[in-house]
Amino acid sequence: MAADRAVDTRVRVGSVELAHAVMTAAGTSGHGAELARYCDLSGLGAVVVKSLSVMPWPGNPAPRLHPLPDGMINSVGLQGPGVAGWFDEFFPELVTSRCRVVISLWGRSLDEYRQAALAVADGLRRAGRAADGVVAVEVNLSCPNLEGRRGIFAHDAELSAAVIDASVAAMSGATRPVWAKLSPNTDRLVEIAGAVRGAGAEAVTLVNTVLGLVLDPETGRAVLGNGGGGVSGRIIHPVAQRAVFDVASAHPDLPIVGVGGVSSAAEAVALLQAGASAVQVGTATFADPRAPATVARDLVTWAAAHGITRLSDLTGVAHRGGIHPLPPAQG
Ligand code: SIN
Repeated sequence: MAADRAVDTRVRVGSVELAHAVMTAAGTSGHGAELARYCDLSGLGAVVVKSLSVMPWPGNPAPRLHPLPDGMINSVGLQGPGVAGWFDEFFPELVTSRCRVVISLWGRSLDEYRQAALAVADGLRRAGRAADGVVAVEVNLSCPNLEGRRGIFAHDAELSAAVIDASVAAMSGATRPVWAKLSPNTDRLVEIAGAVRGAGAEAVTLVNTVLGLVLDPETGRAVLGNGGGGVSGRIIHPVAQRAVFDVASAHPDLPIVGVGGVSSAAEAVALLQAGASAVQVGTATFADPRAPATVARDLVTWAAAHGITRLSDLTGVAHRGGIHPLPPAQG
């Protein structure tokens, strides 16, 4: 029997059932169906689109990306067409590709988040049945690349909770759950996850990029146009594992979407075992646009080879003693 028929790939993230545990990550698969020419997007759990603000936004000065061994650093600065422009320009091709969609949104203030969520709710209402594939809204509280920011929202439990509260209220009637994308650049992650959950987030996405800076020794200046940026890719995978594990330990009933350095099935398995219900493939897609589909396929092969018949059974294995529990310590 083919591996994909022997393994049930469906997973649940809160109220959302996904056909597969592997999705794309915001900001790494374009605004719409750009990856459709490389892989069947409907075979993924969902496509998470690049974070949208209520207004079109130009982003940061170039250069915006710089490769690193086992990853990269970026300071794209959330360039995007704005929610209304996105619905006009990019949403139709996602509908055509018949994939599940997670809309990611951002703002520079509580009110901008609220306005972005209201605009998303309005867009969904206008789209009607065409928007059936939109399964959730991921609120990005964790971008490190906003010029003039007072700090990353996701480093402040109260502010994060207020943003989620406002987003949930703005989305009421649009019947889509709100997920909160959090930052690894804080030692208060567990507390912040609890705060956003209390404010109505149905799941948390862990984690966004790690704050970094790369200087060019020949010039003594930053390689990125905006100075510092966010480090992503395999290099941050242990950071993501730790974040997922710690939050799952503290909040065992809070659904987690794991992201950070997933380039192969092994890393997807590790984040699921750490406590994630689903994973996102991000930076790997820049090197190979087929990466999300490859990880999705190889995860199924891995599960079949290990006698696992449901991908959902991998979630939290590390909290249950691992696959091969150690013998009890001798007195
Ligand atoms: C960016 O566009 O600067 C990256 C987005 C993010 O880190 O949230």
